[in-house]
Amino acid sequence: MKDLLEIRNLKITTLRGKETVRLLDYVDLNIPKKCSFGIVGESGCGKSITANAVLGLLPYPLRVSEGSIRYDSRDGEKELLRLNKKEMQAVRGGEISMIFQEPMTSLDPIFTVEKQMAEAVSFHHPNAGRGEIRERSLEMLKKVNIPRPEQTLASYPHQLSGGQLQRIMIAIALINNPRLLLADEPTTALDVTIQAQILKLMNDLKEQNDTSIVMITHDLGVIAETCEEVAVFYAGQIVEQANVVELFSHTAHPYTQGLLRAVTSLGGATRKLYTIPGIVPPGGQWLSGCRFADRCSRCTERCRQEMPALKEVSPRHLCRCFQNSGEVDA
Ligand SMILES: Nc1ncnc2c1ncn2[C@@H]1O[C@H](COP(=O)(O)OP(=O)(O)OP(=O)(O)O)[C@@H](O)[C@H]1O
Ligand SMILES: [Mg+2]
Repeated sequence: MKDLLEIRNLKITTLRGKETVRLLDYVDLNIPKKCSFGIVGESGCGKSITANAVLGLLPYPLRVSEGSIRYDSRDGEKELLRLNKKEMQAVRGGEISMIFQEPMTSLDPIFTVEKQMAEAVSFHHPNAGRGEIRERSLEMLKKVNIPRPEQTLASYPHQLSGGQLQRIMIAIALINNPRLLLADEPTTALDVTIQAQILKLMNDLKEQNDTSIVMITHDLGVIAETCEEVAVFYAGQIVEQANVVELFSHTAHPYTQGLLRAVTSLGGATRKLYTIPGIVPPGGQWLSGCRFADRCSRCTERCRQEMPALKEVSPRHLCRCFQNSGEVDA
């Protein structure tokens, strides 16, 4: 396998009553080794369910109904969708870690931080001694800038602030030096200074340990600062994909152009927040043509009738738009 992770034709559905509703439609993604890969899009586009599917964490009634997710693990290639519970547990938190969007839901309120960090280590390293684990935990807490690490180890989640909990989550996700880190809006809950520190920490980790990072965010500014490659999601599909320099210099899809206008903090300047008019259609209520048609200022009759394919507009730059594949006069 050339890449670390290969997602092919991934389709995720859910049930509403007796009806099957599509939430993600035939997504292909290749995450190279030692790469920081961004997934960007507005709320509800399918970013989190894609990451959750990788680790087998889709909540019922959501399920992967088609596709494959292949992973080049330390001991050979694996089809993650076919792993049993035990095999998946060995991958999760060891080789592939996830930072969840909701920090509160993934820490257990009845155990101290020390116990939860120790468990994360000893599950994957059963021979590690107590002293060694404590030292490693303290080191990780310092790395994520927790001010009083000893005191924090002895704390219970309810004694800590949201920002501290988020940093502890990040420390736990990184404690076993994962090969792939799925970071789902890892810094949204943090203030800007800490946000920058955390993004730097993740980048250092990538450099030091050759970790690949999938950074999920709604903010193209975060992508610009942290990622090499980027996929833009819209209504359960990829609408544009390229390396970051190419995406920012030759933005092809009208949706990505809208997202770019909505970035407030690039270069530190703040201006009035632009928002793309309209909303993302929810799963099951997608148009049969281009799903962005209703919100697109360049929409034509054909866009309403037919779904554009994801096509190369220049080498390794993909876009799902008739206007940019030379099929319709712009
Ligand atoms: N547990 C669930 N039950 C039913 N539908 C769900 C569930 N989780 C997600 N969905 C639906 O799946 C679609 C994709 O959701 P997802 O959480 O992946 O969006 P997202 O891109 O991560 O958005 P956000 O930026 O708000 O986190 C949405 O239409 C959402 O309503
Ligand atoms: Mg999400």
